[in-house]
Formats: sequence, C-alpha cells, structure tokens
Amino acid sequence: MQILHLDSSILGTASVSRHLSSNIVDRLKALHPDSQVIYRDLALDPALHLSAKHLAAWQGAGSDNAMLTEDLYKGTAYLQELLESHVVVIGTPMYNLTIPTPLKAWIDRISLVGKTFHYTDKGPEGLLKDKQAYIASSRGGVYSSGSPAASLEHQETYLIGLLGFLGISDTKVIRAEGLAINAQVKDAAIAKALEDIAAITG
Ligand SMILES: Cc1cc2nc3c(=O)[nH]c(=O)nc-3n(C[C@H](O)[C@H](O)[C@H](O)COP(=O)(O)O)c2cc1C
Repeated sequence: MQILHLDSSILGTASVSRHLSSNIVDRLKALHPDSQVIYRDLALDPALHLSAKHLAAWQGAGSDNAMLTEDLYKGTAYLQELLESHVVVIGTPMYNLTIPTPLKAWIDRISLVGKTFHYTDKGPEGLLKDKQAYIASSRGGVYSSGSPAASLEHQETYLIGLLGFLGISDTKVIRAEGLAINAQVKDAAIAKALEDIAAITG
C-alpha cells in the first residue's frame, strides 16, 4: 500500500494537525506493515500560485525560467504521487475559515481534467475511485455541525467536496477543534482525536 502524507501547517513541531497526521500514518503503517510513505511538507516547500505562464507551458509554450521549470516538475510529481497512492493523509489547519494556501496550490496541480476527473453528459465524474483519504483537521474555534459557527466551516467541507469531486468518496476526518479556547479544551480535543486515530481499522 502506498500512502501519500501531506502537511500544510506553518507551525512546525508545535502544529496539532501535523501531530495528528503523523499519528494517522503510524496507525496505517501498523495496520499495513508493507506500506510505503511519500511525504510532502507543503508549508516548507509550496508550489507557486498558478499563473498565465503555467497555462502557456501546459499548452506547449515551454519554460525559459528556471523557477517556473522547477515548479512545473513539482506539479507533475504531485500528480504522479497521488495517482500511485492508495491512501492520502492530509494535515490541515483552518486558516481564515478554509485550508492553507499551499494546500490549495497542491489541489490546483492535481485537479486536472482527463487525469483526475472528466466531464460527462451527466456532469463531472472523478477518476480516483479506488482511493481513501484521511483529513487531520485542527482549528482554534468550533465549527462542527450544530455549533453557532457551523455555517462558516469551509475547511473540511471544502476538502471533502473536492476529494469527492475527484472520485474519493471514502474520506474520514480526524478533528481537534476549539484549540484556542483554553488549555483544557485543547488537551481534551487532542486526546479525543488520538482516540479516534487508535480506532482506525483500515
Ligand atoms: C493564519 C491563521 C489563520 C487562522 N484562522 C483561523 C480561523 O479562521 N478559524 C479558527 O478557528 N482558527 C484559525 N486559526 C487557528 C488555527 O486553526 C489553530 O491554531 C490550529 O491549531 C492551527 O493548526 P496547527 O496546530 O496544525 O498549526 C488560524 C491560525 C493562523 C495561523
């Protein structure tokens, strides 16, 4: 089994989503000892925002710029790694109600018509149907279903929707929220998330 492990928090070793995503990967490795892991730290080594030059290069104009060339290779590697993996583990904090921009930049490279989805007369269809995903989600406030701020939740719902659009319907969320409320709430949220990880069976 190949696992693609992505992190996107800017908080390094203090990050809760990184802590949770690495625990999810450890749990999957314990369940599937033959697993291989590909790791991408999207915060440390992000892709560039898409630009007109990227589109021109994709349409055959090529690249005369070393930074663009390197970035185009990175995007190709992102796609290849995803296509080859069976499970994707995504560590994502909530930033300004949604996902961090380097994770969006990754999404902009792997959401490609003809590769990960296509259009049919019945609407778009995802092509990654054989994959599973885990989202390791962290956030300062509380946005889960039923909470007063639930309508502002555009982090997990966006990612689940995007993965579903690409055909990945088997997505599980491991969440630690309310981390900025106080130390007690934070510790309890992390402990509960670690319990949820220990309960992963497949
Ligand atoms: C730039 C930035 C934006 C943030 N925006 C939000 C937000 O909109 N809602 C929220 O609940 N927490 C927000 N937070 C708090 C983080 O979600 C919280 O600290 C979380 O634990 C960060 O994840 P990490 O520990 O994996 O880095 C923000 C933090 C940063 C640094």
